[in-house]
Amino acid sequence: MVERWAPDSWRSKPAKQLPSYPDAAKVKAVEQRLASFPPLVFAGEARRLKSKLADAAAGKAFLLQGGDCAESFAEFHPNNIRDTFRVLLQMAVVLTFGAGIPVIKVGRMAGQFAKPRSADMEMIDGVELPSYRGDIINGFDFTEGARVPDPERMMQAYTQAASTLNLLRAFAQGGYADLHKVHQWTLDFVERSPAGEHFQELADRLDETLAFMEACGITAETTPQIRETDFFTSHEALLLPFEQALTRVDSTSGDWYDVSAHMLWVGDRTRQPDGAHIEFLRGVKNPIGLKCGPSLDPDELIRLIDLLNPANEAGRLTLIVRMGSDKVLDKLPALVRKVQREGRTVVWSCDPMHGNTIKASNGYKTRPVERVLSECKGFFAVHQAEGTHAGGIHFELTGQDVTECTGGAQAITDHALALRYHTACDPRLNASQSLELAFLLSDELKKTRGQRDVTRRAAAE
Ligand code: PEP
Ligand code: CO
Repeated sequence: MVERWAPDSWRSKPAKQLPSYPDAAKVKAVEQRLASFPPLVFAGEARRLKSKLADAAAGKAFLLQGGDCAESFAEFHPNNIRDTFRVLLQMAVVLTFGAGIPVIKVGRMAGQFAKPRSADMEMIDGVELPSYRGDIINGFDFTEGARVPDPERMMQAYTQAASTLNLLRAFAQGGYADLHKVHQWTLDFVERSPAGEHFQELADRLDETLAFMEACGITAETTPQIRETDFFTSHEALLLPFEQALTRVDSTSGDWYDVSAHMLWVGDRTRQPDGAHIEFLRGVKNPIGLKCGPSLDPDELIRLIDLLNPANEAGRLTLIVRMGSDKVLDKLPALVRKVQREGRTVVWSCDPMHGNTIKASNGYKTRPVERVLSECKGFFAVHQAEGTHAGGIHFELTGQDVTECTGGAQAITDHALALRYHTACDPRLNASQSLELAFLLSDELKKTRGQRDVTRRAAAE
């Protein structure tokens, strides 16, 4: 029998990774205020994303999800939002060209504030303090005061998410996302990148295509799809008191939606089938992501799929696989086969970041771009072999020129990490590394497109 769900039914389940606030009355007061605030997104938008993701599950669209590991109050600036939006758009154009299918753009933006941590405590020079858990919970500074969880931070996170989303909506619909503009940025990148020559051919072909379309009368003036785009938001649904306060009944459908973002995901550390996070997410109708790390076994995956998507609705569930470049070939086939055998419909997406974090020689937490690419390639290879769809990718990235991940055409070394290491949590790909990866993955997608065309022709004969 399925137990009754309510926005607060998670409270009776064991919860990992939640802060213990020193003053429960203050938390309650914040929750009440948040519950009276306007929704950040509309249920209809979440349904629209779900239907696009249903296309991705069927191999007819591709998901690009990306943004900061953790947004922060200190880095809140229109230029940062603009630059991350811009690089995601550029990647999407390059990937669309390779895949020959629409790319669904979902930011880890406008609400990605709460972080699960491997250790509850952090030790520096013999001093031990509670770990930083994201700006929505406590402060990054290594002081006793900053690390105390403060519920008022939820208010600031809400405000920052609201104004970030406002700017994103303006960028997406107000002319900034014009395909010609995006292409011009990409041409500038190809010119400047040390690996530019590799990407020149694809950029030239894009150029020709746009010119051809323009000659046919498909321009920004005549065609909204040229000047506008759909852009969705997502974050990890970790801080459940915040998520609950933003969970509302949609008046159109009568269903519950978490209106803090279009898509929510559950992290690899909080996906216990009988835990609070799964309990919360099973009841909201948004599209949901489930992080799948190397410890997940096929039977447990099916159990989680059935909890989160009992009606087997296409587009409801995206499995975000994050095995590590050394494990993906080993671990992913069994999961894919099980899901196929059991007839469950999912979007398979690849997060090549979280299984590839290492410590550099000088102590910085980093991710080598080669490992990121290698996990993506492994992911594509498994789907190719199993006859399933590689439906998306999930990156931690920024539009800024940071030095947090090593390698790429700029050949960032361990030594160079210290130059511009700004992340509030995990190391992000910079703009140039992100776009390089998009070009390389575009080639991979072209291969699967070739496969798709062969299958289509065979079916037509
Ligand atoms: C994340 O996406 O920032 C994250 C913590 O991922 P995971 O749950 O896969 O470790
Ligand atoms: Co992260």
